[in-house]
Amino acid sequence: MRKITKAIFPAAGMGTRFLPATKANPKEMLPIVDKPLIQYAVEEAIAAGITELIFITGRTKSAITDHFDKAYELEAELEKKGKTSQLDIVRSIIPEGVTCLYIRQAESLGLGHAVLCAKPAVGDEPFAIILPDDLIDDGKRGVIKQMIDKYQQQGSSIVAVQDVPKEDTSKYGIVETGIMNDASLFKIKDIVEKPAPEKALSTLGVVGRYVLSPAIFNCLEKTPKGAGNEIQLTDAISLLLKTESVYALAFEGTRYDCGSKIGYMMASVKYALDDNEIGSDFRKYLNTLI
Ligand code: G1P
Repeated sequence: MRKITKAIFPAAGMGTRFLPATKANPKEMLPIVDKPLIQYAVEEAIAAGITELIFITGRTKSAITDHFDKAYELEAELEKKGKTSQLDIVRSIIPEGVTCLYIRQAESLGLGHAVLCAKPAVGDEPFAIILPDDLIDDGKRGVIKQMIDKYQQQGSSIVAVQDVPKEDTSKYGIVETGIMNDASLFKIKDIVEKPAPEKALSTLGVVGRYVLSPAIFNCLEKTPKGAGNEIQLTDAISLLLKTESVYALAFEGTRYDCGSKIGYMMASVKYALDDNEIGSDFRKYLNTLI
């Protein structure tokens, strides 16, 4: 089975749910405690053995490129002041042997179009997609590792799913599943982007992790605009189902929708409570509020 070494990070979205914070700053750079969302996504990929990081960016997203670049002035300053632990933090963001590639999506034509922009960089191999605003804490190496392991066993594309409230189906790609392979892996029969609750196939919603076969690119090329007048990855997966099997993995872990204010605040509180440096003081402070 082919090793998966490439991951796409779609990061061209405008982050309208987070204005005004995202007017000039990319939503992917919003920090949870002290690390931007996109860095959590990158760390999850690297922990799963990914060595080529492909970022799909857009205008106003240069902070992402800068974040993963070398920061000569800052490093020189930290070195001069002997701040070695901070220097380590800055230098270890991208480990040796991992490369970053940036592709600009000129127009906001949707997630499917963003992924299609990466076709020349991915080529004819299976790859991962991580949506940085879906932060998932599985207490271990991350959901994409769970998915790559399943891909190696199964040899078919895998999307991550979780049960979502019926009234929220219109926020997600929703899958209809058939045979259950094990307690957490289901063969997908059909998938629909953001159906209204009364039309939803189930309450199994796709969250932002995918491991896909390269055949998805041909499907994306044939996918017309769908929900929200955008080219949807979900619609391309629905096309892929006509020729290949796709599985849904009910992953282990807690997912925070950090593209929404409430999800972002929940993640911030949980990660702050778990933080080695500030966790216990933060817990004491929270106790005074409640
Ligand atoms: C995207 C996908 C959707 C998926 C969701 C998960 O939607 O199109 O299928 O369920 O991510 O976060 P978005 O949240 O970008 O509108």
